[in-house]
Amino acid sequence: MRRLRSSQAIRDMVSENSINPSKLVMPIFVDETIKSPVEIRSMPGIFSYDPASLEDYGKTLLKKGVRNVLVFGVPHRKDPQGTESYNNDGVSQSAIRTLSSMGFLVIADLCMCEYTDHGHCGILKGSTVDNDSTLEIYGKIAVSQAKAGAAIIAPSGMMDGQVKAIRNALDHAGFTEIPIMAYSAKYSSQLYGPFRDAAKSTPSFGDRKTYQMNPANAREAMREIQLDVDEGADMIMVKPALFYLDVVKEARRTFSLPLVAYGVSGEYSMIKNAVDTGLLGEAAITEYAVSIFRAGADILITYFAEYLAERILKN
Ligand code: PBG
Ligand code: ZN
Repeated sequence: MRRLRSSQAIRDMVSENSINPSKLVMPIFVDETIKSPVEIRSMPGIFSYDPASLEDYGKTLLKKGVRNVLVFGVPHRKDPQGTESYNNDGVSQSAIRTLSSMGFLVIADLCMCEYTDHGHCGILKGSTVDNDSTLEIYGKIAVSQAKAGAAIIAPSGMMDGQVKAIRNALDHAGFTEIPIMAYSAKYSSQLYGPFRDAAKSTPSFGDRKTYQMNPANAREAMREIQLDVDEGADMIMVKPALFYLDVVKEARRTFSLPLVAYGVSGEYSMIKNAVDTGLLGEAAITEYAVSIFRAGADILITYFAEYLAERILKN
């Protein structure tokens, strides 16, 4: 076996997987409530950007070779219905407009938890999220994001029927060519903790277990994905990535659509903290990323995208 491991050149030549910036997506937080970029307390090295600073950060990303971004907006005003989520001049719509005009492939995260004052991913009926009234809002958000120039719509709320509702809304508004990247198998995970800091979207009561998946289940993930495929998803996703590589692998085996894995905020923070404190060598970051491709992902959403793209450009 060692004949094929004798030099970097031969190791590179026989490598089964590699990290290519065109397969990476960098998430970006745009926050209307701040006046200058703010480092996210639980995500060292990752910042929230005020709308006016976004273009400068975009230029930095382009220089480093990042071309794909996933946009999250934090609005100045939250209410029970999350009405800012479909404001054509809202924070995410403006950010989508800015970034797409700079030449990025812009993926719009579609959810309501950043926009509702209660922090849930949809409209409440009593103390639970009402599925079908939420779908109507999701349709409006999708159209406003498409109007703003989003290249791909990525619904992350885990309502039943969300892909079909969004597909219908987009088609009726004339956006038949815009693909849907479905957060299909999204688990109810502690690994979203740092994200909720950044997006200020921690639920004010309860949790997301009535809509996000139970971490104990893998077969159920295949059902979730199948439903999204049937409803017209163009790409499917497993989220988180690191604790769910078995699900990534099974999805790869079962489905032929482009498969996305989301290496979430908690994965980033664990690894980044370990590297920054010297507990792990820096190469842990590429080992982490390549493990997700090895499991079968075609596309990786990761807060390390900026770091990885820059590193590849330098080599
Ligand atoms: C919104 C959303 C979340 C993430 C992506 N979209 C948070 C959640 O469901 O609470 C998590 C991303 C991350 O942790 O990096 N529904
Ligand atoms: Zn949400």
